[in-house]
Amino acid sequence: MSAESPESGTLSNLLKEDRRFEPPAAIAEHANLQAEAYDRAASDRDAFWAEQAERLDWSQRWDRVLDWDDAPFAKWFVGGRLNASYNCVDRHVEAGRGDKVAIHWVGEPLDDTRDLTYAQLKDEVSKAANALIDLGVQTGDRVAIYLPMIPEAVIAMLACARIGAPHTVVFGGFSADALASRLDDCQAKVVITADGGYRRGAPSALKPAVDEARTKTGRESGHRVEKVLVVRRTGQDLGEDGWDDSVDVWWHDVVDTASPEHTPEAFDAEHPLYVMYTSGTTGKPKGILHTTGGYLVGTSYTHWAVFDLKADTDVYWCSADIGWVTGHSYLVYGPLANGATQVMYEGTPDAPERGRWWQIIQDYKVTIFYTAPTAIRSFMKQGREIPDRFDMSSLRILGSVGEPINPEAYVWYRHVIGGDRTPVVDTWWQTETGMIMISPLPGVTHGKPGSAMIPIPGVAADVVTEEGASVPNGSGGYLVLTEPWPSMLRTIWGDDQRYRDTYWSRYADQGWYFAGDGAKKDSDGDLWVLGRVDDVMNVSGHRLSTTEIESALVSHPKVAEAAVVGAKDEDTGQAVCAFVILRDEAGDGGADIVEELRNHVRKEIGAIAKPRQIMIVPELPKTRSGKIMRRLLRDVAEHREVGDVTTLADSTVMDLISAQENAGSSDE
Ligand code: WT7
Repeated sequence: MSAESPESGTLSNLLKEDRRFEPPAAIAEHANLQAEAYDRAASDRDAFWAEQAERLDWSQRWDRVLDWDDAPFAKWFVGGRLNASYNCVDRHVEAGRGDKVAIHWVGEPLDDTRDLTYAQLKDEVSKAANALIDLGVQTGDRVAIYLPMIPEAVIAMLACARIGAPHTVVFGGFSADALASRLDDCQAKVVITADGGYRRGAPSALKPAVDEARTKTGRESGHRVEKVLVVRRTGQDLGEDGWDDSVDVWWHDVVDTASPEHTPEAFDAEHPLYVMYTSGTTGKPKGILHTTGGYLVGTSYTHWAVFDLKADTDVYWCSADIGWVTGHSYLVYGPLANGATQVMYEGTPDAPERGRWWQIIQDYKVTIFYTAPTAIRSFMKQGREIPDRFDMSSLRILGSVGEPINPEAYVWYRHVIGGDRTPVVDTWWQTETGMIMISPLPGVTHGKPGSAMIPIPGVAADVVTEEGASVPNGSGGYLVLTEPWPSMLRTIWGDDQRYRDTYWSRYADQGWYFAGDGAKKDSDGDLWVLGRVDDVMNVSGHRLSTTEIESALVSHPKVAEAAVVGAKDEDTGQAVCAFVILRDEAGDGGADIVEELRNHVRKEIGAIAKPRQIMIVPELPKTRSGKIMRRLLRDVAEHREVGDVTTLADSTVMDLISAQENAGSSDE
């Protein structure tokens, strides 16, 4: 935990925000969830969640909604049994909706599209499930998925869920090292990947990273990946050493030829569904475990309530990658459990040209669109002439997720993309919460640019002081969740103690979940989430740990010590800024030292972690106990006057660093 407290921050700019947007009458009138739900849920939380659980098909009904006796280890829908894949696919086919499009897939190359109906999806998922069984995957085995945004990614996830093999999806932008550490941590038996995918108009290889990762796994545990299942997407040459017959299998050889008949088995509501790795305050990513019943209840309920989904008429599009939790909850499990029709897009927003997203909205008449503030800000920068060329009058609801949305981006989004008709739902949640927790309801709550408003019905949150007192309106503090919720994480994979320590120890007396975010209540009591209060950064809506990047830097032979901070950035929210002390024998590191180190981080973790700025410094500011004072480094990185240095062991250190910064030695 860093020394800063959000209580000392300034609220003045937030309180000046007095723009309000009322829910449009047409949405309010037919809203799925009405205002009465808030009180109803609060007065009997279990009954409310039991009601939401009815939206799923259970092969055996639960006996008890929540078992919280062994807190913080929750059991939801105790005794219930269900199959997640059946709920996302088969039941829609059985209900006569087999011909409904589940996924309008859009590849990055123009005219490379594919529509999958629910009936087709059922066949594909069944074939993949049968193929995985043939490859030796059994219930409980972990399967890693390292794929581009192609339909096989969704099919693979649902096939795993169907046979009860927890998946761990690793974002395709992560490096071989990052992949290897995840494969090791969850001991994945099989990896599902592709030769490559299309990014920015060109094929981008994936398979070589899996090959490299395999050579790096099992150093301590002896664990080995047994099979690698490879989708042919780009057809690119894998090279002479790019194929190992004893391990690698083509998807088209084993999945396409498998039987489309597979009877899903029902699993316990608490059966592990997936592990999603996310950064914490240490160098080792946390494997967040989600289980089946509660997660599916939470994601299907929120997808229905927050986006006011009308499954028969809406065309929904979430632009997130399946490598992040948003892709899990709001591209795969939530929308498919609800039988929605959705768009899935493979590539980048600017390929082949900058209007690609708006073209897709126009072509498919998208009605609900969910994206991240960092994307919105980059479109703002390009100017409204680009979106203005397209007819986006089909849109009725817009969503935002991943980081605080600044009021200007919110208003631009609503105005330019939504034509001033569309409510914007600013949805706060986390990998750990599994589902949206704090958000307006588009037919009930008015919109206030920059505020995520209040917890949705069924969820309880507060902003509290260090001691746990609820702060009055107009003040800030720490964001806590005061009641358990069905899609909550169950633990950190293989590390129950870290689970307790990270989330439940800070407010142990009260039994609250500590989210790691600072927040404020405005004069109406609405919530403004301000960002992390721990050593975690949020870059373009992606969570990165300062320690993880520091470890990557010090693994470079020329580096003696490194400190990383997240500095405010106009485009990406926060940007990675590193302060590095070189080893004596490295001298000045050479002319290209900064680029060399940036590329090293890219190789170790992935492009998203590449520092925007690296400063080579002679010393780092430390307290007498040796703790790096990141607050001071952040002052430098954000070009502010350096704050209080009295607790530094050597108060002249900051003068040295500031002098370096002013000389502009390595800022790019
Ligand atoms: C962290 C969670 C939620 C899925 C994508 C990110 C920040 C997320 C908002 C929002 C302000 C937000 C928080 C949170 N965050 N949504 N609407 N307003 N901040 O998932 O990687 O688990 O990151 O993202 O800091 O703790 P994640």
